[in-house]
Amino acid sequence: MTEHSRPGHLATDSNRQRKILVTSALPYANGAIHLGHLVEYIQTDIWVRFQRMRGHAVVYVCADDTHGTPIMLRAEKEGLSPEALIDRVWHEHTRDFAGFAVSFDQYYSTHSPENKELSEQVYKGLKDAGLIEIRRIEQMYDPTKEMFLPDRFIKGDCPKCGAKDQYGDSCEACGATYSPTELKNPRSVVSGSTPIRKESDHHFFKLSDPRCFAFLRQWAITDERLQPEAANKLKEWLGESASDSAGLSDWDISRDAPYFGFEIPGAPGKYFYVWLDAPVGYYASLKKYCADHGLSFASFTAPDSEVEQYHFIGKDILYFHTLFWPAMLKFSGFRTPTNVFAHGFLTVDGAKMSKSRGTFITAQSYLEQALNPEWLRYYFAAKLNGSMEDLDLNLTDFIAKINSDLVGKYVNIASRCAGFITKRFDGQLDPRSLADTAHGLHQAITAAQPEIAAAYEQRDTARVVREVGALMDLVNGYVDSEKPWEIAKQSMTDTALLPRLHEICSRALKAFAQLTILLKPVLPLTAQRIEQEVFGLAGPLSWSDLAAPPIQSIKRFSHLMTRVDRERIDALIAANRESLG
Ligand code: MSP
Ligand code: ZN
Repeated sequence: MTEHSRPGHLATDSNRQRKILVTSALPYANGAIHLGHLVEYIQTDIWVRFQRMRGHAVVYVCADDTHGTPIMLRAEKEGLSPEALIDRVWHEHTRDFAGFAVSFDQYYSTHSPENKELSEQVYKGLKDAGLIEIRRIEQMYDPTKEMFLPDRFIKGDCPKCGAKDQYGDSCEACGATYSPTELKNPRSVVSGSTPIRKESDHHFFKLSDPRCFAFLRQWAITDERLQPEAANKLKEWLGESASDSAGLSDWDISRDAPYFGFEIPGAPGKYFYVWLDAPVGYYASLKKYCADHGLSFASFTAPDSEVEQYHFIGKDILYFHTLFWPAMLKFSGFRTPTNVFAHGFLTVDGAKMSKSRGTFITAQSYLEQALNPEWLRYYFAAKLNGSMEDLDLNLTDFIAKINSDLVGKYVNIASRCAGFITKRFDGQLDPRSLADTAHGLHQAITAAQPEIAAAYEQRDTARVVREVGALMDLVNGYVDSEKPWEIAKQSMTDTALLPRLHEICSRALKAFAQLTILLKPVLPLTAQRIEQEVFGLAGPLSWSDLAAPPIQSIKRFSHLMTRVDRERIDALIAANRESLG
């Protein structure tokens, strides 16, 4: 059994270098990145940075998801070609991600030659395996606009309760679900005209085939790789018993022109449904990365690959990533994912993000208000525990947590001690104190390390933050009880006390460097400033530096992080409310 197929495997053996491909879901190219999205990209980035710090070889890829009807219509509305729209949005998205220090190795687009080629290859693989079937189906068609209408582009009266202005798939008033043909007084959202029923040929991926069922049951359930909540969903979708495949119906993977996407080879006027080429976009992005860096794409994607492959997603797209995507890969000759990691949805102050309340906060507006991106990284880290539970951004709690943990505890350790080192010891730390591994502070921090590493590995960053928080308290407690400021004062007249002052401050600053290592996946920008500006280190700190951080002196101690004021958060909310226009 290869490493990547061993369920629940944790490489705590840091001597062996793992090879890991990581993805975050591809954001749609028709909207701005908001704080809900950032839960995912920040969660993934923390995990990726942790793995890199441990010395593993990680490739982290993502891309914009550019195809489909909404993007086509959005471009039309803005008077742009779809290509011009997705190009503009790509620049906006990459700017926002860079602003939050999300460290993609490759950020590409599903509208790329690599993706066209790979999507065709997957389709051909499925076809050769006898898993594609063409079937004639009837759908709603807009006779004015001359296009088939996705469910969300049809509105009318609910067939059950009669509520007006409901979408073609479900009623927001009574919760009923139905097909758009059942809607009363239907109209096209695009043209306003009454849709008609029209037949057309569609290409289906035959997920009802017993081979697909057997494979998915093994991959998703028997192997026990998924999170417990995800596994329960899969049992529901696949049916509890091994013989029951009632849950899986064939998947319609084609759409008729006009459609912004890739035309299906040998089927003029038929396009791949966006959800067919979107996950393939992970591999397209990887392929681009491999070409640019002289790596073998097949070494990642062949069935016998030794590379681990993880997909970070939100819980809303679990179906696509745990059923469609593994089956697509399996039956077109690729390896299958090692695991899929789903997270919950973000609420703000206990409610769904809302444009009218100003809580639909865009990444751009956060950065424009000059709020520190690492405040959000830290807050999300404190909330994420590796489960699929929803998480809440409580703005009052956000302010309190940043001010008490990051400013009050973490940065405070350095501000209390660094000045004495620069003023009284010419910036030099005491080598004997740095080297002393018997001291309680050193012992406590190194003893907590394996636990903290395991928590990162399991994406339980809430536990990381708790454990590191306890260590911060310990170090501050040490400084409180040793009172270096008093010794500093006394040492003005009694120089015999200077070695004691030197020792206390050096021990506390070594602990500060150690905490910086432990938090670096969460706070990469602050950590870099500490490495370069505070300690003047030549290279970055890595996980293996924990026992003996290579620090010698304090170059200069500048202000590392400011407090959050309520007014700035209020301004952020106001900016997002105003931007509704
Ligand atoms: N384009 C698809 C994904 C294709 S992957 C092959 C898509 N795009 S999205 O822009 O709607 O969402 C991108 C990711 O952000 C998804 O994983 C989604 O779950 C996540 N989130 C979007 N809103 C979110 C919250 N409010 N909270 C947490 N995650 C959220 O889905
Ligand atoms: Zn209804």
